[in-house]
Amino acid sequence: MATATGHAGKAEALAALEPLVEELTARHLSDRKLWMPSDFLPASEQMTGEDIKTMSELQDRVRGVPDPVRVSLALNLLTEEGLPHFHRLIAVHLGSENAWSRWNFMWTAEEDRHGNVLHDYVRDTRLFDMRAFEQLQYQYIEAGFDPAWHDDPYQLLAYTSLQERATQAAHANTGKLAAQHEPIIQRILGHIAADESRHFRFYRDAFIGLLNIDSTRAMESALKVMPRLAMPGHNIAGYSDMADVVHRAGIYGPRDYRKVVQECLDAWGIADLTPDDAAGREAQDKMMAVPARLDKLADLIERRMRSKSFSFDFIYQRLMEF
Ligand SMILES: [Fe+2]
Ligand SMILES: [Fe+2]
Repeated sequence: MATATGHAGKAEALAALEPLVEELTARHLSDRKLWMPSDFLPASEQMTGEDIKTMSELQDRVRGVPDPVRVSLALNLLTEEGLPHFHRLIAVHLGSENAWSRWNFMWTAEEDRHGNVLHDYVRDTRLFDMRAFEQLQYQYIEAGFDPAWHDDPYQLLAYTSLQERATQAAHANTGKLAAQHEPIIQRILGHIAADESRHFRFYRDAFIGLLNIDSTRAMESALKVMPRLAMPGHNIAGYSDMADVVHRAGIYGPRDYRKVVQECLDAWGIADLTPDDAAGREAQDKMMAVPARLDKLADLIERRMRSKSFSFDFIYQRLMEF
């Protein structure tokens, strides 16, 4: 059965999981409350006087939002606007006209609102030099995103589990800081974070389904994406500086990612698995060792960190020192 790529039979495993996917999708639909971007930011022809007042007061209030919080919002927004990349990967790896693709369309519609509402927010509040930000977004999409997953759908499911939980933390932490200056953005980020947490639950539990039917290969695939979560755009101009600022500002960094990994290991019950083959035991040991590796990496990054200044076009090259 095994081939050179080692991915034979994975499509069949995904097909076998379709009843579970339908169940998880139904659970998701019954738990969610569907919101729309204009629930937070009125934008209609027939706005009330109250709405107009809300929007003009909002523009005054955001003046106090510090630049590191603006950078974090920009990074979160860019990540959300990477949706074409993520939709494509899911469509390519999980197929069409099946329970996975039905999930993917619904998930994409939900995710689409995240980019929309954040984009509306930064535009309506005049938080950025908008053209500079739009150029960055253009590059982010234009750069494409083709992780070296070959034909491995299992890596995709591990990746999405980690990614949903990581974005949930990044949004929630940004919201907490922003709330000191502006409450509407915290409400928006809180709603996005709640969506991410439900998405995480879907992918996490779908991955448990994989572990139940093909645990060794599921672990081997998770190991390929866990040590370092590659994002689309990680090599575009300014992207790593943005991530560095967000880390230095205490919003999201390597320690947060370590927590995400630990949470996945716990939820997937990796420590309690009893693989009956040597490859499975090896993958299990390696997975359990990932948090310690990430700790070491975080220590190293912190030891090497020197004070540094940053500036970004989308906030007018204002200098930030850390
Ligand atoms: Fe999202
Ligand atoms: Fe999500």
